[in-house]
Amino acid sequence: CVSKDTDVLLTVAPYACQRQTPLTHQNSEIIDALEKLGKAAALRGSEVRSLAFTRAASVLKSLPIRLQSADQAKNLPFCGGHCQTVIQEILEDGVCHEVEALQTNEQYQCMELLTSIFGVGVHTAERWYKDGVRKLSDLDDPNIKLTADQRAGVTHYTDLQRPVTREKADRVQHLIKNALHRFVPDLEVTMTGGFRRGKQQGHDVDFLITHPDGEALSGLLKKAVDWMDSQGLLLYHHTRVRSRVQAHRRNVPMDGHETCYAIVALPNLDTSKAGAGVGSDVTFPGARAWRAVRVDLVVTPYDEYAFALLGWTGSKHFERELRRFSWHEKNLSLNSHGLYSTEKQCSIPATSEEEIFALLGLQYVPPQYRNA
Ligand code: GTP
Ligand code: MN
Ligand code: MN
Repeated sequence: CVSKDTDVLLTVAPYACQRQTPLTHQNSEIIDALEKLGKAAALRGSEVRSLAFTRAASVLKSLPIRLQSADQAKNLPFCGGHCQTVIQEILEDGVCHEVEALQTNEQYQCMELLTSIFGVGVHTAERWYKDGVRKLSDLDDPNIKLTADQRAGVTHYTDLQRPVTREKADRVQHLIKNALHRFVPDLEVTMTGGFRRGKQQGHDVDFLITHPDGEALSGLLKKAVDWMDSQGLLLYHHTRVRSRVQAHRRNVPMDGHETCYAIVALPNLDTSKAGAGVGSDVTFPGARAWRAVRVDLVVTPYDEYAFALLGWTGSKHFERELRRFSWHEKNLSLNSHGLYSTEKQCSIPATSEEEIFALLGLQYVPPQYRNA
């Protein structure tokens, strides 16, 4: 029996940007199951079904209590229908049969493996699967053409699968700042992505780079990347130049900032000898002195900085919800470049994340509560 108090607790705002979503939550087993089903749907190409599961999982992430029954969740946004079955099964049996079935689903397992390679999306993975690719070594077939991203992704697969710890992210930050500050000493470099949201590990390390003087940013990324390359610090890099996109078309999450997708060779700390510091290299024959880490570097003009910071802090679902809220509730188009009123045909400037939330009529959500 659910008390009136619990009923009151179990109301959740419909948009993820209207609520606080901490990093850890009360219903992990259910959330994991819903997220797996969402991923499976995405890998089958069903974006709508995938989004439905993602939304349900996200709602439960912001619940302050542990669910006792599926019924308790039935009036929460996106938690009816199929989601009810998942919650009920997990609560009653500890497992969800649909999720269990994925473990033995060859296509799912293979699609998951292939899409976990840097540079490989669902469409590529699907094509490869149809061509008979089942494991990484199948990609050695000369008939299969890999892009440069994908080639690097396969080469460094094992390293890139290992989560990047906070400690490693901090060392990457040191390395990146050192390279950038050689060229512009007072450059602003901010770690964004999951680490800014308080995550203790991630799949990559994201940085946002800006300076009040636009001239200081011109050509900077190329110079810094070339320097890192010359020092043997880069295993791979691919820079996308800035394009003045039709930034305010709806449903265009991709932006046009100058971005470098890199794989850094992070020097190992030598822990095998007491007192040994960074730079004391290989300790026994065959040991590698570095580890591959994926890094994203994004350069933004100063007047777009607040929007870029908000856009690159995530989570992906939080960002998607912010844009959906802006468009449907405020008739404004938001992306990593700015906020645009289609009605008045003008940009609305902002210099901080707080200001952007205020412009949208939203209560400010700090980064550590954007883990939607
Ligand atoms: P992990 O890296 O897995 O720990 O999580 P993360 O949240 O840091 O994910 P990721 O590095 O993939 O992305 C960080 C944020 O950048 C997310 O909010 C994404 O939506 C955003 N992002 C990623 N790629 C792009 C892009 O091309 N354009 C824009 N505007 N945002 C992007
Ligand atoms: Mn990241
Ligand atoms: Mn990233």
